[in-house]
Amino acid sequence: MTPDVTDRVYLGVTLMANLLPVVISKIQQPHIVLIVADDLGWNDVGYHNPDVLTPNIDKLASEGVVMNNAYTQPLCSPTRVALMAGVFPYKVGLQHLVIKNRAAVCAPHTYSLLPEELKKLGYATHMVGKWHLGFCNMTCTPTYRGFDSFFGYLGSDEDHFTHTNEGYLDYRDNTDPATEYNDVYSAYTFVDKAKEVIQTHDVNQPLFLYVAMQNVHEPLQAPSKYYDMYPHVENEGRRFISAMASALDDAVGKVTQALKDKGIAEDTLILFLSDNGGDLENYGNNYPLRGGKFTIWEGGTRTICFMNGAGLKKTGYTFSGLIHAVDWKATLVSAAGGTLEDASDSMDHWQDIVENVATRRTEFIYNLDDVKAGVDDGHAAIRYGDYKLIHGAPGRFDGWYSPDNFTNRTQLNYSQPLDPETPSNSYWLFNLKDDPCERENLINRRPGIEEKLKKKLEEYHHDMIPANFPDDSDEADPELFDGVWSPGWC
Ligand SMILES: *[C@@H]1O[C@H](CO)[C@@H](O)[C@H](O)[C@H]1NC(C)=O
Ligand SMILES: *[C@@H]1O[C@H](CO)[C@@H](O)[C@H](O)[C@H]1NC(C)=O
Ligand SMILES: *[C@@H]1O[C@H](CO)[C@@H](O)[C@H](O)[C@H]1NC(C)=O
Repeated sequence: MTPDVTDRVYLGVTLMANLLPVVISKIQQPHIVLIVADDLGWNDVGYHNPDVLTPNIDKLASEGVVMNNAYTQPLCSPTRVALMAGVFPYKVGLQHLVIKNRAAVCAPHTYSLLPEELKKLGYATHMVGKWHLGFCNMTCTPTYRGFDSFFGYLGSDEDHFTHTNEGYLDYRDNTDPATEYNDVYSAYTFVDKAKEVIQTHDVNQPLFLYVAMQNVHEPLQAPSKYYDMYPHVENEGRRFISAMASALDDAVGKVTQALKDKGIAEDTLILFLSDNGGDLENYGNNYPLRGGKFTIWEGGTRTICFMNGAGLKKTGYTFSGLIHAVDWKATLVSAAGGTLEDASDSMDHWQDIVENVATRRTEFIYNLDDVKAGVDDGHAAIRYGDYKLIHGAPGRFDGWYSPDNFTNRTQLNYSQPLDPETPSNSYWLFNLKDDPCERENLINRRPGIEEKLKKKLEEYHHDMIPANFPDDSDEADPELFDGVWSPGWC
């Protein structure tokens, strides 16, 4: 084999039996496909819950490496900030809820994003799906933040068929409004674009494809072929969310098939993760974990995650090393053969994953949010070794909810107040190794560890900058932009 000496090729040199150094392998930079599901719950994939039909996801996970201790932020924008910028959101003022469509806010330009780093390493970078890192200025949007191309939506919460939010279109092909997809399920459009990217890609260049799916975020909508897969599920909401998980799974299957058809499946590293836990009010499920999306319980933050493909030496195992969404920037850059110049909070776990050894991460902040405006707010939590300390209001719906396929009763306690009376006085302490489902509050029972974690939380608090959560801006009004959610007002 003639070594292909380009800057994207590393030569693996090994001593053969005759002791002559011989080039026996060239390890190319892998193509990288990052698939992010929206609001997919811990118990909303087949490999945790056989009632949910996700055969493609299950196969990729079982033939890959399942990350069993992978964490995110409890909500969408903050997780995406962590993932793309490699910084904890509380350090950049993005810790409070999400970036609203009318908020003059976007992911800070002082941090490079993952695609920008991969570009430096020679990658072609493409994105389909949900951005949600702000769009008030064109410079905030994907094609100005490291992506060669973008197809998808800039905000959140829209209709899966009309691609509108509040009746206004939020769908773009690069920077232009994409008007011709009305009535086409978003998952289908993202698969088509992802396939097009893969099919037309020059395989001599490494590819980074970010597929940020809309499924299974509300509104609960799915084409009938997926809905019809669950005739036995009597609970309408649960039937829809299961159908949406199956639609997501089908998309994953079609993207991996496109990689095979192109002949690059073996050279591709896939990372799949959910951006936070399942949304309980919309029938997402995180059983047996506590709580869900919006909360800093494990059900909101310990999320579905696995890797599959190129570079993983061993496969078919569960990886227990602690990983936070901030770490993927350094880890994927490392898998691509590079090192971040400024890693910020992002820790490179690539070799640890490959070797199946514990990661360097032993602590992290779940969130630090001082804004007290409702039950999801005014909370803090820290992980340190096996322990987790929560301070404040962890979030509404703090129980353990089994998926209710056969009844439609709600297990959610809507009398739980929106404004907890004494959040600032409440603490919870858990040993997650012994009690991963947070059933036994150890507060006042481990004084040493409690004091240590309180002190650490206080120290981290010094790095917090106040939430940048401005009032809605009138200039954002889509009526000023031909009825399309658009940049150009900050
Ligand atoms: C349960 O189903 C009944 C009948 O379809 C419906 O009227 C009711 O609103 C449902 N309740 C919930 C909590 O979904
Ligand atoms: C629901 O929340 C209210 C207010 O916090 C509480 O008093 C009540 O005990 C809760 N109900 C259940 C069933 O947990
Ligand atoms: C967008 O950001 C650029 C760079 O910071 C700035 O020059 C420009 O004025 C902004 N556009 C608007 C409409 O505010």
